Amino acid sequence: MNPIKVGLLGIGTVGGGTFRVLQRNQEEIARRAGRAITIAMVADRDIAKVRAIAGDTVRVTANAFEVVDDPEIEIVVELIGGTSIARELVLKAIENGKQVVTANKALLATHGNEIFAAAQRKGVTVAFEAAVAGGVPIIKALREGLSGNRIEWIAGIINGTSNFILSEMREKGSSFEAVLTQAQQLGYAEADPTFDIQGIDAAHKLTILAAIGFGIPMQFAACYTEGIAELTSQDIRYAEELGYRIKLLGVAKRMPQGFELRVHPTLIPAKRLIANVEGVMNAILVKGDAVGQTMYYGPGAGAEPTASAIVADLVDVTRMHTVDPRHRVPHLAFQPDRLSALPILPMEAVETSYYLRMRVDDRAGVLADITGTLADLAISIDAMVQKEPGEGEKQVDIVMLTHLTREKSINAAIARIEALPFVSGKVTRIRLEELGQG
Ligand code: NDP
Ligand code: HSE
Repeated sequence: MNPIKVGLLGIGTVGGGTFRVLQRNQEEIARRAGRAITIAMVADRDIAKVRAIAGDTVRVTANAFEVVDDPEIEIVVELIGGTSIARELVLKAIENGKQVVTANKALLATHGNEIFAAAQRKGVTVAFEAAVAGGVPIIKALREGLSGNRIEWIAGIINGTSNFILSEMREKGSSFEAVLTQAQQLGYAEADPTFDIQGIDAAHKLTILAAIGFGIPMQFAACYTEGIAELTSQDIRYAEELGYRIKLLGVAKRMPQGFELRVHPTLIPAKRLIANVEGVMNAILVKGDAVGQTMYYGPGAGAEPTASAIVADLVDVTRMHTVDPRHRVPHLAFQPDRLSALPILPMEAVETSYYLRMRVDDRAGVLADITGTLADLAISIDAMVQKEPGEGEKQVDIVMLTHLTREKSINAAIARIEALPFVSGKVTRIRLEELGQG
């Protein structure tokens, strides 16, 4: 059988890795796919870069539309990133009847509904294993391996850059800025790294996981998103003293009235496996009603780990090329006309535990007023520590953990505490998830 011809859009970090992995493992890949998979054409703004990586073995263009319009190309791999040109290219590729593979979670989280509908109409596949958690095959696990389950919740460390930053800050005391620069040099960060540190990239990925896990459309705009930029080494240390680690966690939870969809720094008991996921590694916990809790772990970013997922999609797409399109695995795991209409819940309806840190005057009665404020709002305290004041200091930090509480109540409590005359500045609030078997 002739090799299947692939057109590669963008030969940066992931595109370069994909080229290398396909070349290095070509024999194994052909044995798995049933035919060879060949990159026949590459588009990148920088032609010299393409030549440096691919030599003279491929056709090269600076105009990506030439690839998606080329009749010889059967699969288009979009690794340019962003949501404007990438959207046009993917839709054009679909219109031209090409199979598509992409790692672009921003594109899918924001335009996925349109893209999958177009692919469905055209009978082509848009594969996106690399879009979530880099090299970890979580899409396949959730969409196929767990398809006998009712998924109850998903909780994951799904941004390698922010996990790398938190780990390096905690372990080596490195500065936020220095570690971010390192993550960029290692090819982990997004073109705009604020996507990583503000939780936007994790929210893109969580949107995709929730869609597949629960059978709902992509609803990125409804995802609550808070990043790691405000975290201080002080909070990281206090959390440790209380037996917790702080991770940027994406949480998607099925509730009776709808779905929680949220990304924020989260305290996790230090004894949990997921609390010990360090550096660029990602981990996703999935709770299914039949299987219980499962965890998927591996490198969440970087050239070849991500290429591993891209090539797996290429093998899948090559195998499926001749199958009746209506009987392929649906893009969002559930049949397109059977998606649930239950809403994503507002953040104020979310129920979780909280870490609160506040700076207060070191005098009698202060603690009683704070605990009284919490009691008035029926917020129950799980643990509390009053730190020793520093030499000559008249103020101290109070750190407390609450039991399960509604976000609405904690917002009210924080507003009331911040208004107390002996409290200085803002109350730091970090959400806490036990992630036990429940
Ligand atoms: P890079 O910036 O390293 O690569 C993108 C490449 O596309 C660059 O060579 C860029 O050229 C080129 N390019 C940009 N615009 C055009 C255009 N209009 N026409 C032709 N070429 C163009 O990004 P990554 O490889 O890191 O990321 C690619 C995608 O993979 C993104 O969607 C990202 O979110 C996703 N991803 C990345 C991971 C990672 O670890 N890096 C992991 C998982 C997913 P130039 O350099 O000149 O801009
Ligand atoms: N910037 C992303 C991360 C790349 O750090 O996780 C992988 O999607």
